[in-house]
Amino acid sequence: AFTPRVFSGIQPTNHLQLGNYLGAVKRFVDMQDSGIETLYCIVDLHAITVWQDPADLTRATRELAAGYLASGLDPKKSILFNQARVPAHAQMAWLFNCVARMGWLNRMTQFKDKAGKNREAASTGLFAYPNLMAADILVYHATQVPVGEDQKQHLELTRDIAMKFNNDYGVEFFPITEPVIEGAATRVMSLRDGSKKMSKSDPSDMSRINLTDDADTIARKIRKAKTDPEPLPESAEGLAERPEARNLVNIYAGLADISVDAVMADHGGKTFSEFKPALAELAVAKLSPITGEMSRLMQDPAEIDRILADGAARADEIAKPILKRAYEIVGL
Ligand code: ADP
Ligand code: NA
Repeated sequence: AFTPRVFSGIQPTNHLQLGNYLGAVKRFVDMQDSGIETLYCIVDLHAITVWQDPADLTRATRELAAGYLASGLDPKKSILFNQARVPAHAQMAWLFNCVARMGWLNRMTQFKDKAGKNREAASTGLFAYPNLMAADILVYHATQVPVGEDQKQHLELTRDIAMKFNNDYGVEFFPITEPVIEGAATRVMSLRDGSKKMSKSDPSDMSRINLTDDADTIARKIRKAKTDPEPLPESAEGLAERPEARNLVNIYAGLADISVDAVMADHGGKTFSEFKPALAELAVAKLSPITGEMSRLMQDPAEIDRILADGAARADEIAKPILKRAYEIVGL
């Protein structure tokens, strides 16, 4: 049996968006008080699988750290660090490059989405991304990974890698990690297109709410969010065929920390010209304090760097012996 341990990560690209907050960060904060050891990572090595301007990458790394802290991550309760500072991630990833099969990676939908039509021009890092993600998790023997729904397939690959390694070498060395995909907002959709997930890397800034947006911007983006012309249905069942309406209700439920049924009890039957201002008010009330705290923290980059360095030292202590043992098992 493995000691329960939580790991998750976010890429330092652009700004944190509402989907990252509801699907990931907010739940990371909830889990840090569960009594289980929690490691939260800024996955900068993942970010460079597509081109990043070096100065932007450094800034985005500090901004993401500020976003984690401003959302309530406590560096005394959780280990907060960036991936590049713990070499065991990349070292374990090499072993997994040799465990995972080309056919497994060929099935990954995120690679297909991110590489687009010109697959020949994608970096080999983008293709092998899920192997590095498996290393991020398994180098800590993490048993639980809180993520949004979009990461489900990568988590399955992590389990396949752990099983194949254990099988090939006849050991019970890696845990079979559980994804933790919970809550009303596990897949927040774009505000402009109900068939696409909200993402930091969507070219349209109107498609998402950034944690750095001011109150007016948040209100404007919600006012302009795409919807159908009907009022909200009376109950949650009526949302099934209405992706844009469902998305706004899910966002409301996630921000208010209540069920979709509870949102519908209060807002069912309302028109969007009534519901959208209520949602905007809630979003501003929940996000503005975080935005303010982020910009305060960003004024002291040395303090952020100090917190990350301390986290990296603590993460390194856990990862090193696990990596060493994995190399021994392989015969290295
Ligand atoms: P992005 O797609 O915005 O660049 P990442 O790939 O860095 O985000 O993902 C960071 C975390 O945020 C992951 O746990 C991911 O599942 C979660 N996440 C990303 N987008 C969404 C979304 N639209 N809804 C819910 N969770 C999301
Ligand atoms: Na903890």
